Order: sequence, then structure tokens, then C-alpha cells
Amino acid sequence: MDYKSQINTSEVPGHIAIIMDGNGRWAKEHGKPRIFGHKNGVLSVRSVVEGAGEIGLKYLTLYAFSTENWKRPKVEVAALMQLLVATISNEVAALNKNNVRLLTIGDLKSLPGNCEKELQKAMDKTKNNTGLSLVLALSYSSKSEIVNAVKKIAKEVSENKIDVEDITDNMFNNYLDTALIQDPELLIRTSGEYRLSNFLLWQIAYSELYFSDKFWPDFTKEDLFKAVVDYQSRERRFGMTSEQLSN
Ligand code: FPP
Repeated sequence: MDYKSQINTSEVPGHIAIIMDGNGRWAKEHGKPRIFGHKNGVLSVRSVVEGAGEIGLKYLTLYAFSTENWKRPKVEVAALMQLLVATISNEVAALNKNNVRLLTIGDLKSLPGNCEKELQKAMDKTKNNTGLSLVLALSYSSKSEIVNAVKKIAKEVSENKIDVEDITDNMFNNYLDTALIQDPELLIRTSGEYRLSNFLLWQIAYSELYFSDKFWPDFTKEDLFKAVVDYQSRERRFGMTSEQLSN
């Protein structure tokens, strides 16, 4: 089935966020080590980024490494970091060719030095691109992001830079890593797991959730298009009634 042709191009979401899950199980199914799954996961990243560009998405956020992922075996963490460095340096020319801007959220400083350097270089090289913004969540924890925002606001209140009464939902956004990024309309998680895993908890307050049974290395742009078609069939009421929406 061709899902792309079923997409209403005037109502494509502005931001899709994806929890890429199932690399390890995919590798196990193929009788290979976990890193084989991560390597094949990179091919899915490429396909999905390409698909996102084709449908004119503004932001695509990929959960590439959570703060909790540091607890994995050292060899897996090292292999993932190496894969990240290699992928970024291999792909930066393609990102530029396709007008893709690379952004990151999370604690970049906690990444190995070469990884942080490669990411900074790629962000700098792609900063003037005006097409898709590809946001990589790296060493990211939504709870830490929220706590850090609270700390920044508390400091500004204590220094009399802002008043407690100035704290609103909208102004809070400006203190998050995603300050300049619109909230995702759609959140996708692969691998048949139904969890949010500390990802964009504030930003997804009104996102539509879509779960795919496919392991991430089997997920392609066609699956992204299928998720968008499903999203477009939903009624987003934001607390209102159907009748209110149609009036
Ligand atoms: C989840 O599968 C995947 C990750 C924690 C890492 C995702 C990384 C990549 C796809 C490769 C590099 C990414 C970029 C953006 C270049 P899992 O290991 O949790 O799988 P499991 O749940 O089956 O064990």
C-alpha cells in the first residue's frame, strides 16, 4: 500500500518525535550482537530523515541515547558513541545537500569529547539550512530537562529578574532544551513497547501517540508515512467536544 499518496499535504504535522526502540531484539532475532542492530538502525534513521524531508516536515526529533542508557554495558555504550561519530561525519554532506539542519537536545557535555566535537561541527556546518530540522536527543532525560528549567527560573526569581506571577506555561517552554522548537503533534514508538521512557514529557502533553510493532531497524519511511496517515484520521479535540470543533 502506498501511504505517501494518502497523506493530506496541507495537514502534515510540523514536528514528529520518535522513540527508536528494538535494535537489540532485532539483532538477537538475526543471531547477531546488539551493535549489529544499532548499525542497521542507522539505515532506518536515513530512510526516515529522507521521508520526513519528502513530506515537508519541519522538525524530526529522534531519541538516540537517554541518560538511563549510560547504565548499559560499557562496550555497548562505547560502540554506540563510535557509531554516532561515524554516522554524523559520514552524513553531514548529505544533510547539507538536502537542506537539513542538525540540532541536539540533552546533556552534550556528558558525551565523549570526540562525539561532542563532531556534533558541534555538524551543527555549525548545517546551521543555515532551512528545510527539515533534525533534532537528536542525546544523553537526554525529560525529568532533568524540567528540573533544570525550574532551577533557572528559581534563580531568576531570586535575583528579581522575573516575578513569580510571570511564570506561565508558555514562558516555561523558553527554559527547556526545546525552547525554539514547536511541540510534537505526533510521537511514534517502535518495537511494540508502550512507554514514554522519560522523553519530552512536557512537550507531548497534547501529542498523538502512535505505536508500531516493528523493531526500529525494520522501520522505514513507508512506516513513517503510514503513521502520518493514521495521525490525519484522528480528531484532536484539545479538551473540547467534537461539536465545538466543527462549529
Ligand atoms: C533502542 O534499541 C535504540 C537505541 C538506544 C539507540 C538508537 C541508536 C541508533 C539507531 C543508532 C545511531 C543513531 C543516530 C541518530 C545516528 P534498544 O537497544 O533499546 O533495543 P532493545 O529494546 O531491543 O534492547
